Amino acid sequence: MYKNDFPFFSNNEFVYLDNAATTQKPSSVIKASSDYYSNYCANTHRSSFGPANIATQKFEDTRKALKEFINAKSNSEIIFTKGVTESINFIAHSYAKKFDTVIISSLEHHSNIVPWHMQNRSLKKGLKVVACDDNLNFDYSHFEELLKKHKNAFVSITHISNAFGKIHDIKRITTLAHKYNALIMIDAAQSLAHASIDIQDINCDFFVMSAHKTFGPTGVGAVYVKETLLKEVDPYQTGGATIQKVTYNESTFLASPYVYEAGTQNIAGVIAFHEALKYLKNLDFQTVRKEEEDLYEYLHQELLNIPGILLYNNTQEAIASKSFNIENIVHDDIGILLDKMKIAVRVGHHCAQPIMDKLGIIGTIRVSLAFYNDKKDIDLFIKALKKAISMLKD
Ligand SMILES: Cc1ncc(COP(=O)(O)O)c(C=O)c1O
Repeated sequence: MYKNDFPFFSNNEFVYLDNAATTQKPSSVIKASSDYYSNYCANTHRSSFGPANIATQKFEDTRKALKEFINAKSNSEIIFTKGVTESINFIAHSYAKKFDTVIISSLEHHSNIVPWHMQNRSLKKGLKVVACDDNLNFDYSHFEELLKKHKNAFVSITHISNAFGKIHDIKRITTLAHKYNALIMIDAAQSLAHASIDIQDINCDFFVMSAHKTFGPTGVGAVYVKETLLKEVDPYQTGGATIQKVTYNESTFLASPYVYEAGTQNIAGVIAFHEALKYLKNLDFQTVRKEEEDLYEYLHQELLNIPGILLYNNTQEAIASKSFNIENIVHDDIGILLDKMKIAVRVGHHCAQPIMDKLGIIGTIRVSLAFYNDKKDIDLFIKALKKAISMLKD
């Protein structure tokens, strides 16, 4: 029934199971973007005529809505970016350079690995990886060992793994990090679509979000920075809109968030993101979450019935994404055949090559769910998968 709100589904025959890559957008989001361009297209925070004032007000309304959505304390803690990748690069560049060690989990997306490599960190030089067990569970005692050993560490951990759907207990991880005086950033790219977030309860220091994975537009993301840390975060990019006063000799900067939002922003995208947040807020979260859990379990059970299935984790502490392989079949071949049968899944390493290496594989077939998926989608996918397997085994 939710699918009626998302034009993609009436314009496509595809069964869409690639939500970890990007989610579909409700009509309200698409309309808000087009309304901006059609009716009040003007730059924000600069001019003071009518349409410019409307654009600025609506842009700031999104900031307030996101602040409320995650229960942050103040609007100044919410800084808009292009997405999680830019958010992590921002914090890595403008804050986390000063730490000797960065601790990540085994399940990180490349966006939470490569920015650290750009600081010349490797396993031998300041990057440490928390181990996980055979069900991809985070190893808390190894984490504690690393925190004890590395006194000047910054922790950067994903909340929900895009490749395997594994959920990290970010409150427990944050509490442990703080016990050893380490600050922590959470990669929440996959979070807002599947979890309800109370940032003050989690108490992490940085929290990075992505609109396009949250039923909003592409090219928009945000960083939450705990208020008490804002003064310690350097400007990332600088230029127009970040400054208080510029002379030929020096520049002085505005306070957060403006100091961190250089140049013209993705105004339409930020404004439209507000509609995605409103849409999510209007859902009955408990019901939607239960439906997603049931569907995830159903998918898992159906996959277990496929001969030669290779799964990498069960459904405990996991949601939305399920990765698998079929014995003696190349994942890419399955992907090609599923596309022909109008099933949209992703095949490959899912920007998580290190964990693929650790598992001794080069990639998987990944099904990733959102609240609008239903049993019929899974049944069509399983039918197509069985057909693809029989074609490839013959
Ligand atoms: C866990 C995780 N981190 C980071 C990213 C990058 O996010 P963005 O596309 O917003 O840059 C993704 C996208 O797949 C992701 O799933």
